[in-house]
Amino acid sequence: MLLVSYFYGSSFANKMKRNIETDLSSQQKFNKVRVGGSKALALAFFGVFPYGILLIAVSVFYRIPAFLLFESIFIYSALIFSIGYLVHNRPYNIIRSYLKAEGSKFSLLSLEYSPTGRLKDWARATRKLNEKKKWLEKIYPYIEEKLAPIESDPLTIISPAANNANYEKRIAIKLAKQLNKPIRFIACDQLEDIEEDRSINIDHKLLEFHFWKDTPYSDLSNRLQLQNISQVDYVLDFKGVIWHQWSEEKEVETIFKYFDQLLKPGGIYILDATDSNYFSRRWNAIALRLFGRITNYAEESTYLMIKKFLTDPKFLENHRHEVVGGMLFITKISVE
Ligand SMILES: C[S@@+](CC[C@H](N)C(=O)[O-])C[C@H]1O[C@@H](n2cnc3c(N)ncnc32)[C@H](O)[C@@H]1O
Repeated sequence: MLLVSYFYGSSFANKMKRNIETDLSSQQKFNKVRVGGSKALALAFFGVFPYGILLIAVSVFYRIPAFLLFESIFIYSALIFSIGYLVHNRPYNIIRSYLKAEGSKFSLLSLEYSPTGRLKDWARATRKLNEKKKWLEKIYPYIEEKLAPIESDPLTIISPAANNANYEKRIAIKLAKQLNKPIRFIACDQLEDIEEDRSINIDHKLLEFHFWKDTPYSDLSNRLQLQNISQVDYVLDFKGVIWHQWSEEKEVETIFKYFDQLLKPGGIYILDATDSNYFSRRWNAIALRLFGRITNYAEESTYLMIKKFLTDPKFLENHRHEVVGGMLFITKISVE
């Protein structure tokens, strides 16, 4: 019986997981780490049901104390698993997974990061924390140092998952002022309803700033070509596309292949490499959900996520990397 429960629960959990994954890879929009989708919980929850129902059925006919004891154990554990399962996956994700399986489409990411979405607090809380830590002020000199030697005219930087482009605008205007050379900064995000942060003054004769919303990174190559931009000098991606790609698919090779095509030889990826430990992240993830605030990062930086991949011999053939000042710089050293 346990075996049947196991297979039943396991196949159900796998189906659910597949639904979620289909959703992820088709839309590439969902942060799986936050969604949860614990196979173990699903398995326990769905596995416990057929087993318990049999116990109840038996106890109706034979009022044997042992069966009554099993029955109450079942009822309480089913209750605990149900609550655990719902809290972990949340009804919204379960419904979404079924709607998706039925072929219904809706923009998950807009729900997630939109003003009513549950990740809306992520951006606000993380930005507040970064302000407090003076993060941008600390990392900026390292960015400037990397960009200064490049001779391109204009120096073209793309940020594929810029959200409201707050950091991008602040970096862009500083670069234009400090480097005293033409800067073209393209900040994009796949959100349709994201509002560009207009609180930062980006008026400068040397700065050309673009904000492309509703632009998934997979559209970038075409959009750049339409603007007659074949390749860029830098890809700046703070907890952006590479980070999402890793947390969703555990797969960064393809994303680097894609961006390598957009990047000039000698071009550089500028990625976040803040340090944090597991327990602090767990606590801050809870604090974010409960109180909407964090005292440290609730998730790994892009560097911590992709660290192992960086030493892959195939990747090393065309890239070298360096972690400096809480930043990860990856240089593309040859054409694909
Ligand atoms: C965690 S936020 C980080 C935003 C910003 N880089 C920052 O540091 O504040 C992730 C952003 O990635 C965007 N995003 C996720 N997947 C994307 C994709 N496939 N193409 C473009 N943007 C994407 C989301 O819309 C969201 O704004």
